[in-house]
Amino acid sequence: MIKNNCTILVTGGAGFIGYHVAKKLLDLGNRVIIVDNFNNYYNPKLKKDRAKRLAIYPNCKIYRTDIRDIEEMRKVFLVNKIDKIIHLAAQAGVRYSLKNPLFYGTNNVQATLNLLDLAKQYRIKNFVLASSSSVYGKLEEFPSQEDFNLKTPTSLYAASKQACELMAHVYNHLYGLKITVLRFFNAYGPWGRPDSALYIFTDKISKGEPIEVYNFGKAEKDFTYVDDIANGVVLAVGKEHDYEIINLGNDRPIHLMRYIELIENELGRKVEKKMMPAIPGDVQKSCADITKARELLGYEPRVGIEEGIKRFVEWYKSYHKIKY
Ligand SMILES: NC(=O)c1ccc[n+]([C@@H]2O[C@H](COP(=O)([O-])OP(=O)(O)OC[C@H]3O[C@@H](n4cnc5c(N)ncnc54)[C@H](O)[C@@H]3O)[C@@H](O)[C@H]2O)c1
Repeated sequence: MIKNNCTILVTGGAGFIGYHVAKKLLDLGNRVIIVDNFNNYYNPKLKKDRAKRLAIYPNCKIYRTDIRDIEEMRKVFLVNKIDKIIHLAAQAGVRYSLKNPLFYGTNNVQATLNLLDLAKQYRIKNFVLASSSSVYGKLEEFPSQEDFNLKTPTSLYAASKQACELMAHVYNHLYGLKITVLRFFNAYGPWGRPDSALYIFTDKISKGEPIEVYNFGKAEKDFTYVDDIANGVVLAVGKEHDYEIINLGNDRPIHLMRYIELIENELGRKVEKKMMPAIPGDVQKSCADITKARELLGYEPRVGIEEGIKRFVEWYKSYHKIKY
């Protein structure tokens, strides 16, 4: 486990996972440098509110900087003696990538290449890279294992994440940069993303509006509580691997209809469900094999889905000042 006296750059630190990771690192006594461009993919107020909670820590510095701008990023490296990098900033969202493919080339591929190159130049000790379960694409063998041969991404988001994994491998192979790639499986929890299923469903159910259920409710996903993901990230940055790819999942996939039922129970309301066909690009099943995470990191997911949804709904109500 990583402890104080380390300066860690967390990109995307005002984002959902980045906020939880940065907070954990700060609570452990590390110095944290956050870089985030606070873009408006979803309401930037949520990002500002997360950042405000981090800014309270004297060991936290926050830069509103775009990683695509390598000269601006170089200034961050020159001013701060960065030991390690956790690279979480990215354009997320499989569905968004259907209509906005070009963002994924610049925000994910180019931005990651900029950061890998700076990491090489500034002799960074350890680089943790956020990837995604979506890289498993059309593979229908479960649980998904890190050494599966990946050839079938179904969205530009997934392809961009796979490209980042490959570029990271090159930086390890040629320059010895220590890299841990973490494939996250459907993170959810307090301070979550407004484009996520949980946030959208909770929002609609609490407003008494119908919800759209894609693939006629047949999806099955391995939802991972954000605190478990953040623990895994902190464990990963505390260990130096040469180049490893590690799944961070919950190991217990849940059917979408059951997921919705749990949200309804928590809110004490039933919702009208509009059953819809699948959206192209969406992966219909995810299930992580987390043997490697257990063995290499000592990772163990602790928060079950019922408890996780309860915690999210509590946060949602308090953040949006909803009383019922
Ligand atoms: N949330 C999930 O379920 C999930 C699943 C798999 C993978 N991931 C990956 O985990 C990482 C974090 O995801 P998240 O859910 O916290 O998303 P998020 O959108 O909440 O956070 C990403 C942050 O990065 C920032 N950002 C984006 N492009 C940037 C740029 N060019 N320069 C600087 N900042 C930039 C955004 O403003 C945002 O605050 C991403 O790499 C995402 O692809 C997330």
